[in-house]
Amino acid sequence: MSLQSARELFSPDPNTIYLDAGTYGLPTKPSMDASLEALNGWQSGRADFIRDWEPAGERARELFARLIGASPAEIALTPSVSVGAGMVAASLPEGAEVLVPHDEFPSVALPMSAAAASGQGITVREAPYWEIADAIRPETTLVALSLTRAQSGETADLGPIIAAAKRHGAKVLVDSTHATPFVSVKEHIAGIDYLVCHGYKHLLLPRGVAFFYVRQDNLDTVIPYLSNWKSAKKSYGSDLNLVPDASRFDVSLAWHAWVGAVPSLELIVQWSEDGTIAEAKRLAERLAKGIELPQPKASLVCVKVGDAEKATAALDAAGVKAAPRGGFIRMTPHVYNTEAEIDRAIVVVNDLLSAG
Ligand SMILES: Cc1ncc(COP(=O)(O)O)c(C=O)c1O
Repeated sequence: MSLQSARELFSPDPNTIYLDAGTYGLPTKPSMDASLEALNGWQSGRADFIRDWEPAGERARELFARLIGASPAEIALTPSVSVGAGMVAASLPEGAEVLVPHDEFPSVALPMSAAAASGQGITVREAPYWEIADAIRPETTLVALSLTRAQSGETADLGPIIAAAKRHGAKVLVDSTHATPFVSVKEHIAGIDYLVCHGYKHLLLPRGVAFFYVRQDNLDTVIPYLSNWKSAKKSYGSDLNLVPDASRFDVSLAWHAWVGAVPSLELIVQWSEDGTIAEAKRLAERLAKGIELPQPKASLVCVKVGDAEKATAALDAAGVKAAPRGGFIRMTPHVYNTEAEIDRAIVVVNDLLSAG
């Protein structure tokens, strides 16, 4: 699909240049339609959850698996990143060492710290983001990090991290929330033990639609503490007769969100395969070039400023929606932006920077 045809599927406010998919991505019209239909079915009482809502989860599982090069049997459906990270943290063996980068996003780092506080001799060690591969050592049980950092847009080089983890017998947990679909993990997926990704940003899905990849050979390394009516082969009782795939880690679906997710996820998969996402990434590259920043690996373009809150408010007043994060103004274009919008944003940001 051309970028122009993709754009016709959105309806952003015409007076706003929305460069904030890093906070939440805008929904496609087909997703809005599906969401409204699901809500109407709820209101009328005519919906049948098994026929109308539950299947959305299975379709989303297949689509996300395809996006990251995994099997649907390795994907669990969760409401947030911390749910997947938390299950991995709660399953750590006694005495485990977890390595996380400095200033890691809390939904990944804090479950590990909570495990460390549980009194089982688990420790969390930190290292600079760019030194993570070298910081992995024989004592390391798990290395957990964001593939693309929320606060700076930096994107880790997974190759050396996976290689070092393999050398030392450590497992690797990746949060790809700010990377997927702009940074592909397909070439590394066989070396990633666990992956968590929330869909409400760059996947353009409703909040509450997140994924937890558990590589096939790791299924039994995670204790399904959140087991529920779909995790076991029987509907009632306490027999932990688990289903044989990663759906044992599913959390009961927030139905309407998952129904609304499917049309956008279909499009994201299509756009990843037909080059539309790559074209949208060129908007981020154009933006970075226009404000003299290095080319981004993902879609996040982050400018360091003295007062990010104040600068973002000034951008907002000029009609450019960005986000202040970690001392940066963070701008995150997507398929719904135009080159003209990017060029306008470049002028506004450069004016702001030169005004000090
Ligand atoms: C790197 C990263 N991971 C995950 C999330 C979302 O976390 P959760 O799904 O726990 O709300 C965010 C939200 O800003 C994020 O920046």
